[in-house]
Amino acid sequence: MAQTRTPIIAGNWKMYKTGAEAREFAAAVRQQLQGVAGVEMVVCAPFTALAALQETLAGSNIALGAQNVHFAEEGAYTGEIAPRMLSEFGVRFVIVGHSERRAYFNETDAMVNKKVQAALQHGLVPIVCVGEDLAEREAGQTFSIVEMQARAALAGVEAEQVAGVVIAYEPIWAIGTGKSSTAEDANEVVRHIRKTIAELYDQETANRVRIQYGGSVKPENIEEFLAQPEIDGALVGGASLAPESYVKLVRAASR
Ligand code: PGA
Repeated sequence: MAQTRTPIIAGNWKMYKTGAEAREFAAAVRQQLQGVAGVEMVVCAPFTALAALQETLAGSNIALGAQNVHFAEEGAYTGEIAPRMLSEFGVRFVIVGHSERRAYFNETDAMVNKKVQAALQHGLVPIVCVGEDLAEREAGQTFSIVEMQARAALAGVEAEQVAGVVIAYEPIWAIGTGKSSTAEDANEVVRHIRKTIAELYDQETANRVRIQYGGSVKPENIEEFLAQPEIDGALVGGASLAPESYVKLVRAASR
């Protein structure tokens, strides 16, 4: 159960850091995190910083992630990036369906599902984001929203593949607002997501899927989330940008 799932701390850099800035970050953290065990570390960088990070993180225990991927193999999709273009740079994780992509780039549940399938087909681990907005929370719809999003994202995904998916529960009202969910509330929602996966597949499979919390996580509050039995790490935006802060988050999870 909880003890057998390795927590995963993923930084979501969003539209921050050039290649040069990413290089500086990597140089600052890689040595400090050498030998840190019991936690999987990921940085999800802008596409243009991937090459610099592939080079500066080579041989380290920090894995590379991207923040979006197109579902097609290749084609006339101006401005988009295909899964194998990410693999070329050693990318292993990719955030799919982040609420900012859903809100500003019209990403639908159907697109999220296609992206999840494409990522898995190419050996990339999708970090699938689900979460309710404030109005939905206030209307008591949190469980039904995350359940609907999780079911849609996983449609057609085989049982043996689903254990390789990471889900991030990110209440939209908590992202970048400094207003995090309480750890207990987040744990209940994550429990509901796991229950949904158990209904779709089986309990054993559901117990293997890692489900993170995201939304205003920082070194000062991460311990509370990690102490929850259902929560397997965090997807962190703002607090993942400074090397000292990222190192603290990872160290908290490795304890
Ligand atoms: P935040 O962002 O940590 O800055 O709230 C989280 C996210 O958007 O993944």
